[in-house]
Amino acid sequence: MTANTIPLTAVPGPKPLPLIGNLRYLRPDTHRALVRAREEYGDLVHFQVNNRHLYFAAHPEDVKYILVDNNRNYHKGRGIQKAKPLLGEGLLTSEDDFWRRQRRLAQPAFHRQQIASLADTMTTSTAVLIDRWQPLARSGATLNVAEEMMGLTLDIVTKALFSTALTPEEIHEVGASMAPLLRHTIQRTQAVFDFIEKLPLPSNRRSKQLGMRLDQIVYRIIEARRQSGVEHADLLGMLMAARDEETGESMTDVHLRDEVMTLFLAGHETTALLLSWTWALLSWHPDVRRRAQEEVDQVLGDRTPTAEDVTRLPYLGMILSESLRLYPPAWAIPRRPLAEDEIRGYRIPAGCTVLVSPYVTHRHPDFWENPEGFDPERFTSKAVKDRHRFAYFPFGGGPRICIGNNFALMEATLVVAMILQRYEINLIPGHAVEAEVAFTLRPKNGVPVSLKAR
Ligand code: HEM
Repeated sequence: MTANTIPLTAVPGPKPLPLIGNLRYLRPDTHRALVRAREEYGDLVHFQVNNRHLYFAAHPEDVKYILVDNNRNYHKGRGIQKAKPLLGEGLLTSEDDFWRRQRRLAQPAFHRQQIASLADTMTTSTAVLIDRWQPLARSGATLNVAEEMMGLTLDIVTKALFSTALTPEEIHEVGASMAPLLRHTIQRTQAVFDFIEKLPLPSNRRSKQLGMRLDQIVYRIIEARRQSGVEHADLLGMLMAARDEETGESMTDVHLRDEVMTLFLAGHETTALLLSWTWALLSWHPDVRRRAQEEVDQVLGDRTPTAEDVTRLPYLGMILSESLRLYPPAWAIPRRPLAEDEIRGYRIPAGCTVLVSPYVTHRHPDFWENPEGFDPERFTSKAVKDRHRFAYFPFGGGPRICIGNNFALMEATLVVAMILQRYEINLIPGHAVEAEVAFTLRPKNGVPVSLKAR
C-alpha cells in the first residue's frame, strides 16, 4: 500500500514516559494490559518500547491483513532472531525463499495421514504416565500436572522425531538437556541487553555444552541413517526422505539439525500448556468434564484410542478449542514490516514491531459474547462457520501457520481421552491458577492437583 500523510503520533495509545516509554503500562501482565489497551484506545494502539515503535492490531480483519493478505511485507519480530544459536535456520526463524523451500520439504511429514502414524507413539508414552500415576492416586498425593504434561510432551516429540534410534538413557539425556536449553533460549529472546548472552557466565557456558551434546546425538543419528540407507517412519526419517519437487534437492545435515531443534522447541511446550490449561478448566467446570467423560466412555470404553478416534470425540475437540481460545499458548505473534504499510488508514513505518495477539482477539467483544466465560459450545461447526475466520487463530495464519497443528490436536485429544478414562483431576483447593506471559502463556506457580481413580 502507498504511504499516506497521517503522522506517526496519530495512532492512539498511552503517553510514553521519558526513557521507559510505555513499559510501565505494559508490565508485568502484558496480556491483560493489551486487553485494556484495546478497550481504552481501540483496535490499533501505538506503544513505545525500548525506543522502538510497537503497533498492536486487535481486529480480525487486520490480523488477516498482516498474516495473510500482505504477509510478504512482514518478517518475524526481532526477538526470535536471538533463538538462532539454538535453532539456526529452522522453520521458526528462517525467512523468504529459504523458509519457503524448507516448508515445502517439511510439509508432507505433517500431513494428517503421516501424523496418524505417530498415534501409537503418543498413546504408548501416555500409558506409561498413567501407570506411574497409580500410587499417587492411591495415596492422594499432590502433583504439578503442568510439569507432568511438559515431561510427557517432550517424551512424545523425542520419540516422534527419532523413534527407536535412541536408548532410554539417551531419551532421558535429550529431555534433561533440552529443558534448560529451551529455557535459556527463551530468556535470551526476551533479554533487553544483547551483550549478556556473550558474557562467559555459567549459564551461557552450560547452554553451549548442552547444545554441543545434543548436536552430537542428532548428527550421530543422521549419520547412522545415511550409512544404513534404511528409511524410518518417524519425523526425522520423513524429513530426510523429503525431496524438493522443483529441484530434487534434499536437506543437508545442518538443515536437518536446525529443523530437529526447532521441532523440539515448537513441538512440546505449547502442547504441554494446552493440556495444563485444559486440566485447570475441566476442574473448574465439572459439568463439562462429566460430558467429556461420557463421550470418552461411550466412544472408547476401556480401549486405547487410535488416530481414527480423534474425529469420533467431537466434544473433546470443542473443549480443546475453547481452552486454546482462553489460554492460547502462543499468546502474541510479532512481526516486522519490511516496507512502510497502512493499517486502518494509519501509517505503519518500516522496521517497527507490529503485534497481533490471539489472547486479545479471542476476547474481542464484537466477536465473542461473554468473552471470559468458558463455553465449548462456541465451537460447534455452525458457530465456527458464522464467525470471522480470524477472530480465532491459536495456530497463527497464512503461510506461516503452525505446521504442527494437526500433530498438537491429535496428541492433546489422545492424552486427554486416555487420562479421562482413568482419572479425575482436581485442582488443590485454594490454589489460584493465574496466567503469566513469557514467550508463551503459562500458569504461574504451576497447576497442583490431586488424582482420583475412576
Ligand atoms: C497447542 C500447541 C501449539 C500451538 C498453540 C502452536 C502455535 C504456533 C503458532 C501461533 C505459530 C506461528 C508463529 C508465527 O506465525 O510467528 C507456530 C509455528 C510453528 N509451530 Fe506450532 N504450535 C503448537 C504445536 C506445535 C507442534 C506440536 C509442532 C511440531 C511438532 C509445532 C511446530 C511449529 C513450527 C515448526 C512452526 C513454524 C512454522 C513456519 O513458520 O513455517 N507447533 N506454532
